[in-house]
Amino acid sequence: MENKVALVTGAALGYQAGGPSIGGAIAFRLAAEGAKVVVVDVEEPMGRRTADTIRERGGTALFVQTDVAKTAEVVQAVESTRREFGALHYLVNCAATYEGDIARNVVDISESDWQHTIEVNLNGYFRFAKYAIPLMLQSGGGAIVNISSGAAFRVIPDFSVYSVTKAAINALTRTLAIDFSPHIRANAVCPGFVRIANSEGERTPEQVEQWIGRVARGYPLQRVCTVDEIASVALFLLSDEASYINGQCLVVDGGRSIANAHEF
Ligand SMILES: NC(=O)c1ccc[n+]([C@@H]2O[C@H](COP(=O)([O-])OP(=O)(O)OC[C@H]3O[C@@H](n4cnc5c(N)ncnc54)[C@H](O)[C@@H]3O)[C@@H](O)[C@H]2O)c1
Repeated sequence: MENKVALVTGAALGYQAGGPSIGGAIAFRLAAEGAKVVVVDVEEPMGRRTADTIRERGGTALFVQTDVAKTAEVVQAVESTRREFGALHYLVNCAATYEGDIARNVVDISESDWQHTIEVNLNGYFRFAKYAIPLMLQSGGGAIVNISSGAAFRVIPDFSVYSVTKAAINALTRTLAIDFSPHIRANAVCPGFVRIANSEGERTPEQVEQWIGRVARGYPLQRVCTVDEIASVALFLLSDEASYINGQCLVVDGGRSIANAHEF
């Protein structure tokens, strides 16, 4: 990925110092493969830290604080990419919010929580596609990876808006794949449970291990996914190794969704 430019949304390190989010892990891997990385996140200190860490490791990175819900900021992030690096080849949409009281069915969720989640988690992916694709085309084409979720296929009970955004992201991925072929490939990654620093919340370390252990028993591999395992799949789909893969929504859940069982 030498001489390539990549933009990753939601690429701040986890809120706690425990490790990167999925987007942060993807940004690190892109930089390790030689790409110049534009780190995009609404969180200023943590997003800057991702870019600083890439530079400390000898890579090239630019942080642009951006709220994906705001068109002017998305346009500015793409413009900063053009100014700094002159091109864009890879787009990874990953930013998502869990703000508000969104663990609700459609009767119980407020309209404002529903709309805010759609605005960030779905329309944020649309906005970056809309404003980044022209620069990608001017740069000779490239590839998009949208981070979706297994919830696009098998909904999480009482988590209605999240599942709806992820199903729509899969449809968005397919329309991008068709509409911008043969210049841009677009694919989605649909993870099961991925352990991030954010998962830990207010729990004590012992409670976290018990909880993760319970979740892991629902997976055939008897463990949950790491951020690096999602980053590996994203890197593969962006790279020329996946040059004939287009419009696919790849489930990465250790085989959970194909099994007729809840515990293994
Ligand atoms: N962790 C999991 O188990 C899991 C499973 C399936 C899918 N996913 C998906 O992976 C992606 C990354 O999530 P994560 O688990 O790393 O969580 P995370 O909360 O660590 O990462 C999300 C990032 O998006 C940023 N963000 C939130 N609102 C934003 C906004 N308005 N503008 C710009 N950035 C914003 C956050 O600051 C954060 O850095 C999400 O799309 C999520 O739906 C996660």
